Amino acid sequence: MPSESSPLRVGICGLGTVARGVIRVLQENSEIIGQRAGRPIVVTEVASRSARPEIDLAGAGFSTDVSSLPDHSGIDVLVELIGGEDTALSLIETALRAGKPVVTANKAVLALHGHALLKLAGEQGVSLGCEGAVAGGIPVIGALQRGLAGNEVERIAGIINGTSNYILTAMARSGQSFETALADAQRLGYAEADPTFDVEGVDAAHKLTILAALAFGMDHRFSEIYIEGISGVTLEDLEYAGQLGYRIKHLGIARRGATGVEIRVHPTLVPESHLLAHVDGVMNAVLVNGNAAGDTLYYGAGAGELPSASAVVADLVDLARGTALLPAASRAVDISVIPIERCVSAHYLRIPSLDRPGVFARVATLLSEHGISIESAIQRAQAIHTESKEHWVPIVIVTQPVVEGQVAEAVAAVQALPEVVGQIVRIRVEDLDDQ
Ligand code: HSE
Repeated sequence: MPSESSPLRVGICGLGTVARGVIRVLQENSEIIGQRAGRPIVVTEVASRSARPEIDLAGAGFSTDVSSLPDHSGIDVLVELIGGEDTALSLIETALRAGKPVVTANKAVLALHGHALLKLAGEQGVSLGCEGAVAGGIPVIGALQRGLAGNEVERIAGIINGTSNYILTAMARSGQSFETALADAQRLGYAEADPTFDVEGVDAAHKLTILAALAFGMDHRFSEIYIEGISGVTLEDLEYAGQLGYRIKHLGIARRGATGVEIRVHPTLVPESHLLAHVDGVMNAVLVNGNAAGDTLYYGAGAGELPSASAVVADLVDLARGTALLPAASRAVDISVIPIERCVSAHYLRIPSLDRPGVFARVATLLSEHGISIESAIQRAQAIHTESKEHWVPIVIVTQPVVEGQVAEAVAAVQALPEVVGQIVRIRVEDLDDQ
């Protein structure tokens, strides 16, 4: 074992953007990092399938054989920044089995295998740091593990995918189409290699799985999360949401309910008066409500070389000074994930209807027959409907909070009305009031 003042020897697996940032932050901030950690933190080995000669490794050893790194005798900690699932999982497991702590920014591996990895780390008596896996430079993992440790967490609501937030912001601000905004996000390097994970909500669901596990003391239950992305959000809905006093944001929500926890990722109408409605562009923000602290809000860059490196280095400093948390010995809390049909929220409905007398009344009656109250509504006559040659009007309604299954049934009944001439759009609405 190294003595307390000997350097913490770091082995980095992967040489992409975040790895470059970690090397840079450890070099450029070495003095203050060493002071805080009580000893130097030095990258001694790097392994990556492809070499990047343009990156200055500051004297660290380099190998293209990534499997040689996890149990390398010249490192005290493995920093896994290779991304992807299978190889990363095997590298992390090998390091933990060798009794080495691991720091990773790999949200997919944690969301899918977090429970097993934490169990292994616990058995080996080493830490598994993951501050870089959720919301880049925002220290929200640390907030849940330490600052809010005395709270029962009631709810998390986060904008945790910068690409989706960039696209929705561009659509709302400049009227860009989804496709144009996505192409811009890709050109600017915000989207992941496969943009499906970003725009279809999978990336946000990975991150929410990790947050929910920490917040509620539960296993990582990615497969039980309800996931909906932003590819169906239209300029029309952004416009109507604005007229009703809302903005549409892609939220990850984990909330304690009567019979378990709701864990869901979807586009959401957020009141314009709420701070989360003003988190724009690629920025991320996470709102955490604790039963003692009330609402706390964490805002910052959710990705990028230096913000993500900041999070990874925070875990290394913890480790170097001996304050890294060991996985809890206690069993995970046995808590159910509430199926989406039983989740409760208000809903925005856009119902394309012919502009005939009595249609709004019929819609309102059907909603009320399903136990749904209307919070607000607008309808403004539009152009002539091409097939019927009649004027048509989108009836736009925001309901009171209600069990989702009831809304789904009511929407099916409204959809069957002969005056409804197009697909009804339904988007969930959250008031985000202090719980
Ligand atoms: N692709 C992610 C995002 C960043 O758009 O937020 C990395 O987690």
